[in-house]
Amino acid sequence: MHIANYTMAMKPPWYNIKQYYEKDGCDGVLYDNLTINEKDHLCMAGMDTVELAQEYGTPLYLMDEERIINRMRTYKRAMSKHFGGTSLPFYASKALCCRRIIELAKAEDMGVDVVSAGELFVAESVGFPMNKICFHGSSKTRAEIDYAVGLGVGFFICDSEEELRRIDASAAVRGVRQSIILRVTPGIDPHTFAAVATGLIDSKFGLPIPTGQAREFTRTALSLKNIELRGFHCHIGSQIFDKQPLCDAATVMAGFAADMRDELGYSAEIIDLGGGFGVPYVESEAEIDIDDTIRLVAEHYKAEMSRRGFGDTAVFMEPGRSIVGDSGLTLYEIQDVKVIPGLKNYVAIDGGMTDNPRYALYQSQYTMLLANRAGERADTLYTVGGRCCESGDMLGEDIPLPAARVGDMLAVMTTGAYNYSMASHYNCVPKPPIVMLKDGKSYAAVRRESFHEMLACQFDDT
Ligand SMILES: Cc1ncc(COP(=O)(O)O)c(C=O)c1O
Repeated sequence: MHIANYTMAMKPPWYNIKQYYEKDGCDGVLYDNLTINEKDHLCMAGMDTVELAQEYGTPLYLMDEERIINRMRTYKRAMSKHFGGTSLPFYASKALCCRRIIELAKAEDMGVDVVSAGELFVAESVGFPMNKICFHGSSKTRAEIDYAVGLGVGFFICDSEEELRRIDASAAVRGVRQSIILRVTPGIDPHTFAAVATGLIDSKFGLPIPTGQAREFTRTALSLKNIELRGFHCHIGSQIFDKQPLCDAATVMAGFAADMRDELGYSAEIIDLGGGFGVPYVESEAEIDIDDTIRLVAEHYKAEMSRRGFGDTAVFMEPGRSIVGDSGLTLYEIQDVKVIPGLKNYVAIDGGMTDNPRYALYQSQYTMLLANRAGERADTLYTVGGRCCESGDMLGEDIPLPAARVGDMLAVMTTGAYNYSMASHYNCVPKPPIVMLKDGKSYAAVRRESFHEMLACQFDDT
């Protein structure tokens, strides 16, 4: 990765990193809400990240609220334009499940997708309308099903016949008819990391169309008295940049809906195409045009529906990462710098796999800067080691930074999705706060966890 070399003299007091890269002939990897101020500090949404770190401590998650809202609006607008008024994006709360983000989704009139009773509880706690919630998961327990049916959750996205029977029994006890959508796998390779590819025939999620199991799944759903089958769902994977698999999945789903009408006399009302749009973490990944991608997917979907003579359906989508991913960054303080001559340079930070396990899990790539020396030339390669007692606890290897010093502030970009929500308490490390930035002000949407809160279940006085 190339970080442009320039001097303070070349730089106006407020500098937009992305524009600078473009002017310098470099491909920018950072976003237009990231700037450098006259102190050479990295700013997000116009706010000095070094000052924020001083105020809130490190590690620290920062989120640009306006950017999140804009993404929600982009999805809503694009879906309604290309799929029609009954379509709806559901924010996939697994990407970042905290009350404030769910409140934003509520204010923007989106749906929400939850995958556990815990996520459902968060949605319930902010008064999210239950009829706009999809409840996912491949191992829902009886207790979770009872809780969700009792709350009147809008849709279960069902993963198996066993689950159908459990929901049917739970709905019977409550005297309701529960709406459900069947998760099927279209057998499409999304061209992403294996660990986040979920639409292939061999997947732990849903039942495959190509083997005929999805058809039998539909038959079973139609035979149960206390559930109402509303349609079909697929999610082929995450961090997808190639539009073709998304279009192919839409075509297969439309074809499957038409097959079920022809073979079983069942007409789906809803097709849920899942989430998965990628966001750039490094400069080799190009930003996706959300509106244009949805336009293209809709084109394929509608073409197949019309070819098969199928009338209008509502279309749902479930974006997670592309709503919050590039609205977040994490700040750490460098605790140590270690040089192993001829081999490697390490920086040791005050966080790591406990607040961001994605490198340890998938070797996910990140762009990093020194927030307090943001404009300096990055001419040294570092391995960024986390604080945990685990060799695999790293955030990246061969990361270009200026010659690092103890006390420097490391900014890791694009940490808004699957960081806080995947955080752990390994080594009894408390979780960092999530600080939202809006209109030049900051506030903690989630405050820093104390030792007592982290260990609350071990004390009987709380
Ligand atoms: C069923 C389902 N829907 C939506 C999502 C959100 O995907 P993304 O964050 O890539 O948009 C996921 C992610 O794993 C998922 O499993």
